[in-house]
Amino acid sequence: MLGRPIGLRARAGFVAVVWLSLIGLGTAPRSVSAETTAVPDHLPLTETPPDTVELGHMLYNDLNISANRNTGCVTCHAHSAGFADPRSAADPEGMPVSPGSVPGKYGTRNAQTSAYATFSPPFHWSEADGSYVGGQFWDGRANSLADQAVGPPLNPLEMAMADKKAVLARLAENPVYLEAFRRLYGVDLKWNQIDLVYPKFGLAIAAFEPTDEFAEFNSKYDLYVAGQAELTAQEKLGLELFNGKAMCANCHTSTPPENYPHTLFTDFTYDNLGIPVNPRIAELHGVDKLPPDLGLGGRPDIAAKHPDGSQEGKFKVSTLRNIELTAPYGHNGVFATLEQIVHFYNTRDTLGEVPDAADPGFGVTGWPKPEVPETVNKTELGNLGLTEEEEAAIVAFLKTLTDDSLDNDLTPESEAPLRR
Ligand code: HEC
Ligand code: HEC
Repeated sequence: MLGRPIGLRARAGFVAVVWLSLIGLGTAPRSVSAETTAVPDHLPLTETPPDTVELGHMLYNDLNISANRNTGCVTCHAHSAGFADPRSAADPEGMPVSPGSVPGKYGTRNAQTSAYATFSPPFHWSEADGSYVGGQFWDGRANSLADQAVGPPLNPLEMAMADKKAVLARLAENPVYLEAFRRLYGVDLKWNQIDLVYPKFGLAIAAFEPTDEFAEFNSKYDLYVAGQAELTAQEKLGLELFNGKAMCANCHTSTPPENYPHTLFTDFTYDNLGIPVNPRIAELHGVDKLPPDLGLGGRPDIAAKHPDGSQEGKFKVSTLRNIELTAPYGHNGVFATLEQIVHFYNTRDTLGEVPDAADPGFGVTGWPKPEVPETVNKTELGNLGLTEEEEAAIVAFLKTLTDDSLDNDLTPESEAPLRR
């Protein structure tokens, strides 16, 4: 799967690909990731300018929309790494957070997968769940994909452009973008009405992210559900434990949502697992200690609504699709492997204590204290009583959730249109 170009299965994605090579985007610098250089050049020429999906595809892969023309969405969300950051996957302990466009700058959270993100509903309070639900980011602060996408170019730790005007000026360098924004959105990238034009960038990306490239639903598990593949005895045991004794499915829902045929492995609610600080992040930032990451409760709007601190330390339940490819794990990437995070779920409250996650006994002789102790979930995890074999079975099951892992695709009649 390494090097597989993104967007090829998107509707008529080939048109964008041709336009990419016409305007020279295909020769972007090689340094960032295998994925960014994977623009194919063997597809037929066409005169058709891009539609919104194709424009979104081009923008997603464009490294020019960053301070040093070296970082795009694809840099931190590459297909080869399950649409998370391949640099973190290659070095989960050393690089739990993504390097930004500016040398020496790093993010403060583990890059999430952008795959299956389209299924997260708009952020809202659910009375039934007694929890906030949905939104984009670990803390749900963006309501939709379009709201999410306008953030990274302006984030000094990510694409680090000076302001919206600078982003639009970069886009306007490209005649294909100039024409596409005019034709598709009726705006000119050179206009001074920045706040009118800039959100169209988010709309184009949001048109691309719901394509089937980001939601393949063709893992071994999907094929098993469709009766087209067998799970091994170990994987079956893992599935049973996932739904039963280990209680994973309480949050990583293992049944499809209403009116949709595929399982998403998240209910999009928020919880505090008692994850400890990852000291490596402060180290990358060149400081001894960073302020605690309060997650959902650290958002000013949520903090104002819940002055009791009840939402502090909570983060959005992740999908587990492609989890094998997206190391490290947790919002701060403190767990380098799936074995480690499963062991944490099993023994958080029973193993003993070590001073911090840099301690050699981390996960072996003990776990550090939670970063935000007050709201930790004590009922659904921490002391699951799983044996070593059972932990291994759960990991084996998680690895059946990797898309493209088998050569065959689902038969067309079992495929379903995207929901949103
Ligand atoms: C430098 C790395 C980096 C770049 C560049 C980047 N992202 Fe992200 N992305 C992240 C991180 C880190 C998070 C989680 C941040 C948080 O929760 O505060 C994230 C979160 C997301 C999410 C939320 C997923 C979810 O399940 O909630 C989406 C979608 C996403 N990014 C898409 C994009 C798009 C589109 C672009 C380009 C416009 C982009 N990202 C650029 C690192 C990056
Ligand atoms: C009470 C709800 C809940 C239960 C039960 C639960 N999880 Fe989670 N899971 C979460 C939340 C919330 C996160 C994100 C937490 C964070 O990073 O702070 C998460 C994150 C993860 C991640 C890391 C995802 C990533 O992208 O980094 C993995 C892997 C995972 N869970 C697997 C499991 C397994 C396996 C089980 C059962 C042993 C399980 N979970 C049980 C709520 C839950």
